[in-house]
Amino acid sequence: MELDKIITGDSAVVLQSFPPDCIDLTVTSPPYDNLRTYNGFVFDFETIANQLFRVTKAGGVVVWVVGDATVKGSETGTSFRQALYFMQCGFNLHDTMIYKKINPPPLESTRYQPAFEYMFVFSKGKPKSFNPLMVNCKYIGHKRNRATDKKPLSDSKMSQPRNEVTVTRDKKYAHNVWEYIVGKDGNNGSHTAVFPEALANDHILSWSNEGDTVLDCFCGSGTTPKMAKLLNRHYIGIDTSAEYVALAKERLAQLERGLTLPAPDGGDSAPSQALSTPDMFSAIEHEPTPAPRR
Ligand SMILES: C[S@@+](CC[C@H](N)C(=O)[O-])C[C@H]1O[C@@H](n2cnc3c(N)ncnc32)[C@H](O)[C@@H]1O
Repeated sequence: MELDKIITGDSAVVLQSFPPDCIDLTVTSPPYDNLRTYNGFVFDFETIANQLFRVTKAGGVVVWVVGDATVKGSETGTSFRQALYFMQCGFNLHDTMIYKKINPPPLESTRYQPAFEYMFVFSKGKPKSFNPLMVNCKYIGHKRNRATDKKPLSDSKMSQPRNEVTVTRDKKYAHNVWEYIVGKDGNNGSHTAVFPEALANDHILSWSNEGDTVLDCFCGSGTTPKMAKLLNRHYIGIDTSAEYVALAKERLAQLERGLTLPAPDGGDSAPSQALSTPDMFSAIEHEPTPAPRR
């Protein structure tokens, strides 16, 4: 199978030409209901979900970034139905993560401002790679006296509190709500539903290793392939729209030429530490091996 390419076509068809167990990680975002018709293309969700299961390696992961359309004032629930269908295909629902938008587009209705999308993390068995994002603990090196345990005294048979000093660690796992500024990256041309480069970056770092193969079966302007390339992974992108495929190829070519256009607010294609919100990710570090769980 040829790697590092963007393919024009319907993923329901293209994926059937892939060998089984060839993809380490998929980071993708499908068309949401029929919110956008993308030049009239529709997609066969069930076939694509089954194909994703077939092409994913044991321990591989699919990150499915999705939201619902609102019809007659209520959400369609499509994202939940899709999540349950992925489980029917054989995937584990490893984690339901949230992509929180710091600057959601204002909408007025009878509901609160929608400000997030789901990032369903499906795994084919136990994930084979997990390089967790780490954040600073609030009170680094803080010493606490604990007098919670009661230990029987052997001589008096009385109980007495045991004094323990615990020192707060430097780092802990990030939580599963990730915040990003929408529309920060400036070089994705005319595509209307681009996800942040930092989002793709953070999932690729978390669920894959250098040299792995990363797929986006709805690659649009090529955000996932671009970040995969930057992070020394192989990429495969698929999109039905020749216009978006051209855009994705141009973004990758810019990368090749070292000509990544600056974002309007001065951002660029640096990894998440620079692109994500200061609040949560300013202190993020990626460790090659997972930190011990508490
Ligand atoms: C939500 S957008 C993805 C945007 C992408 N994450 C980015 O950052 O640019 C969904 C994409 O799916 C594509 N698409 C729709 N139906 C498809 C199909 N059957 N196979 C492949 N791509 C499809 C659309 O052209 C659109 O670009």
